Amino acid sequence: MTESVTITDNRTGESVEIPIENGGIHSNAFAKHMPGLWFYDPGFTATASAASSITDLDGANGILRYRGYPIEQLAEQSSFLEVCYLLLFGELPNHEQMDNWVHDVTYHTFIHENMRKRFMEGFHHDAHPMGMLMSAIAALSTFYPEAKEIFDPEIRYKQINRLISKGPTLAAMAYRASIGMPFVYPDNNLNYAENFLSMMWRVAEPNYEPNPVLAKALDVLLILHADHEQNCSTTTMRVVGSSHADPFSAAASATGALYGPRHGGANEQVIHMLEDIGSYDNIEPFVESVKLGEQRLMGFGHRVYKAYDPRARIVKEQADRVFEVTGKSPLLDIALKLEEIALEDDYFKSRNLYPNVDFYTGLIYQAMEFPLDMFTVLFTIGRMPGWLAHWQEMLQQEQRISRPRQLYVGPDARDYVPMASR
Ligand code: ACO
Repeated sequence: MTESVTITDNRTGESVEIPIENGGIHSNAFAKHMPGLWFYDPGFTATASAASSITDLDGANGILRYRGYPIEQLAEQSSFLEVCYLLLFGELPNHEQMDNWVHDVTYHTFIHENMRKRFMEGFHHDAHPMGMLMSAIAALSTFYPEAKEIFDPEIRYKQINRLISKGPTLAAMAYRASIGMPFVYPDNNLNYAENFLSMMWRVAEPNYEPNPVLAKALDVLLILHADHEQNCSTTTMRVVGSSHADPFSAAASATGALYGPRHGGANEQVIHMLEDIGSYDNIEPFVESVKLGEQRLMGFGHRVYKAYDPRARIVKEQADRVFEVTGKSPLLDIALKLEEIALEDDYFKSRNLYPNVDFYTGLIYQAMEFPLDMFTVLFTIGRMPGWLAHWQEMLQQEQRISRPRQLYVGPDARDYVPMASR
């Protein structure tokens, strides 16, 4: 069997044979032989935009691995900060590396007072925290102008560290501002997830002690969200990064991509959907309306997974542990029944639609008392290391600027008509 593909232009008879490498064919060979002919691929359904060694995703078989390590093992045995290190630097850290990394993240959680006093307070009282977070990440670039030195490894490390360590601080700050509560400063005695919970919920306790089950569940959810190869927001990070913008600007753009209901906003939509369904009796009619194409079953379906999303399985386990502490969400029974009905229905079966990571995460966040508009913010904190790992990998590969082509389908050349003659 020859490991290649041959493409023939039937207008000219010209053929080009392109070797298959790593499961793909390089567009260079095609572009060289057939200039001016483009692949039309809106939504990039058949385009590999990067060669990456960060995350291995086999959607047909429901497999997800970071740097080769199965997501199940990482969720069970690792921690979010260790996973950040793994994604960013390629290997699990030894003791010393881990200590240094945790120290660096823990001691960079503070942000400039101007950010809090002048920037955050400038938002309207009901501003969505995701909009505030996105703006705050972009604003960080003005505090660290050296960030544009993207090819200096030491400066790059500092910005990576800042984005991971300050993300929870900014997120909690956005939340507290939105409810008119004073900002809680980071506590260096707490771990990453605990410190975030403290900045979110602490009121007047001298020593805030987060519930260990809830802190662990949050840590696991952050691990599950840490990377997912070339998804919409990561692609945005790479596209913006390919122009050599600083990482704060690129991460703010990626945050914007994540904001949308088809991507990071889906977990919020799942809760709205479950609340709208409201009771067992309404599940069947809801499913019927989905089948008629009137609405989508949020938290179901995925561009890449055509099997059960392995992250959804782990989230479901975490949900059980969290509900033991918080009490069961009344929406859980509706979600379980909805899943059961959908998994047996031909509409969903024939389209390979299974629960994705978002189907149950919203229920956990809600049980932990995060308001709905913080869900995507939590996703942003989790996805940050993935964005940064891809950004760094892209710079090290010296990728050309992202600049796709289009198929022009507008009018042919025509002469300008003066206003008086229109
Ligand atoms: N409910 C009902 N039908 C669906 C759903 C859904 N959630 N998802 C896909 N379909 C159907 C489509 O109508 C289409 O049917 P057709 O062939 O009869 O036209 C078919 O399945 C294929 O769907 P596409 O839209 O082509 O799939 P695509 O890969 O473009 O979309 C997406 C993937 C956006 C995730 C989609 O499944 C969706 O909208 N799901 C709901 C939102 C959601 O949960 N998003 C979170 C994704 S995970 C993440 O970002 C972390």
